[in-house]
Amino acid sequence: MKLIFLGPPGAGKGTIATRLAEDEGIPHISTGDIFRENIRNQTELGKKVKAILDSGDLVPDELTVELVKDRVAQPDAAGGFILDGFPRTVPQADALADFAPVDKVLNFVLDEEEIVRRLSGRRVHKPSGRTYHVLFAPPKVEGKDDETGEDLIIRDDDQPEAIKNRLAVYEKQTAPLIEYYNSRGLLTDIDSAPAPDEVYKAVRTELGLA
Ligand code: AP5
Repeated sequence: MKLIFLGPPGAGKGTIATRLAEDEGIPHISTGDIFRENIRNQTELGKKVKAILDSGDLVPDELTVELVKDRVAQPDAAGGFILDGFPRTVPQADALADFAPVDKVLNFVLDEEEIVRRLSGRRVHKPSGRTYHVLFAPPKVEGKDDETGEDLIIRDDDQPEAIKNRLAVYEKQTAPLIEYYNSRGLLTDIDSAPAPDEVYKAVRTELGLA
């Protein structure tokens, strides 16, 4: 099962991908998570991309493509993977078709008002990447991670200005991939508006796993 999760920022791709990857025993490859981990560890890559992520712009294609090419070549991805947040441009999609063609693309659909609500209420446990929402998926103790009790943070790119930019970047650079994959017969829309359990059920049904 080689999958792409496509969709605007905040549509719930990461929430569903984390769960599906765990249940199916395949890696969840999130380029955003990989970049954020590098920023956290202050690697050369992390230093290069920090300002780009904070503003909501895209990391250059060459960097991102190399990173994903290396990651999908790892042994744990041999039986399948979920790509979350990649590809995000047509050149990235063209490159992926050469080194790791996928079976299916799930396009998470959500309107802009709800996207903004989700992103502005998101809270993250930085070390693990666990994600919460102040209203829709609150932690057991306000502001604290359920597993470790450590503080939750607001992602720098979940500030209003960055959200606005991410939505504009999505429309311009990533939305054209909907037609790209539709015309190749690979795309299915997933309504991302219902609660996470329902969205997850719809995804499993679509993948023939229900
Ligand atoms: P990335 O980390 O990929 O961010 P994104 O696409 O903006 O996606 P998000 O993580 O914001 O949203 P999501 O859809 O995963 O939603 P989530 O499940 O968290 O990328 C970050 C940056 O890295 C980019 O801006 C760029 O700079 C760089 N980058 C990454 N990939 C790149 C690439 N390929 N090329 C170039 N640059 C790249 O859910 C959001 C919130 O809603 C959470 O609080 C959650 O609890 C809640 N929620 C989820 N589902 C539901 C539901 N059904 N109902 C109610 N609430 C829900």
